[in-house]
Amino acid sequence: MHSNCGFGANHKLVLLTLVALSLQWQVFAVDFPAPITKCHFGDEKCLIEQAHKLLKKAATGIPENNIPSLEPLKVEKIEMLGDKNSALKVDLVMSDVEFYNYTKAKLLSIKGFSKDLSKPMKLVSQNINPRMTIKAKYKVNGNILVLPIKGEGLLTMVLDNVKSRIVTTMKPEQRNGKTYLIVDNIKLESKLDNVITDMTNLFNGDKTLSDSILKVMNENWRVLSDELTPRINEALAHKFEELLPKLFKDIPYEDYFLPE
Ligand SMILES: *[C@@H]1O[C@H](CO)[C@@H](O)[C@H](O)[C@H]1NC(C)=O
Repeated sequence: MHSNCGFGANHKLVLLTLVALSLQWQVFAVDFPAPITKCHFGDEKCLIEQAHKLLKKAATGIPENNIPSLEPLKVEKIEMLGDKNSALKVDLVMSDVEFYNYTKAKLLSIKGFSKDLSKPMKLVSQNINPRMTIKAKYKVNGNILVLPIKGEGLLTMVLDNVKSRIVTTMKPEQRNGKTYLIVDNIKLESKLDNVITDMTNLFNGDKTLSDSILKVMNENWRVLSDELTPRINEALAHKFEELLPKLFKDIPYEDYFLPE
């Protein structure tokens, strides 16, 4: 910068004011919640470490981003309705659903951050969760493997080795000369190794009937899980569509990574 006037007291004052203003600006600039730190572009190992810190922090809540404790992670409702196939003709409605241990997921990969801001960005991450538990109120009515099932009470499902793939599509948007990533949609797919379901008060509490249907369900867990898992994943994806913007919507993409 060139200036016509000399480097006098006035000029120094202007400089000091500018420095003070820029410091203030940094204080107010929106950043990732501590202790999450920035990574170099393309440093996947660092991104995975930050994601683990974020999950750990989210377990107790991130009040500065208006995110409640995610242990448990709460979802209002999960519904599976109608005839799915010959083995599963059942209506199952779960409400006040709670996921325990969701934040214990171990990330295996995070890919897709791009420097091309002319098109949507597709972020793909994979994780594995050794054991997660779902608790909910339930209402069920129908048939599983030709056996009738009916009841209303509390449901517990323990899911083992849940491997998930999360695809987050984000659209770059320009605001005040900066680029912000807007979450467009999130899709979740998962595979798991076992599900153990318990339901209280099946058949109005008839123990013989409920023990036998639960035994059949648990021995044939895939019959239910193949149809229920996609419904669970839709509900979780909606939840993440609501949570992610709270973290990232005010941070310019230009500030996501350390300078190279
Ligand atoms: C949470 O994860 C730990 C470690 O995998 C496991 O021992 C525990 O049973 C899990 N708790 C629930 C409620 O699923």
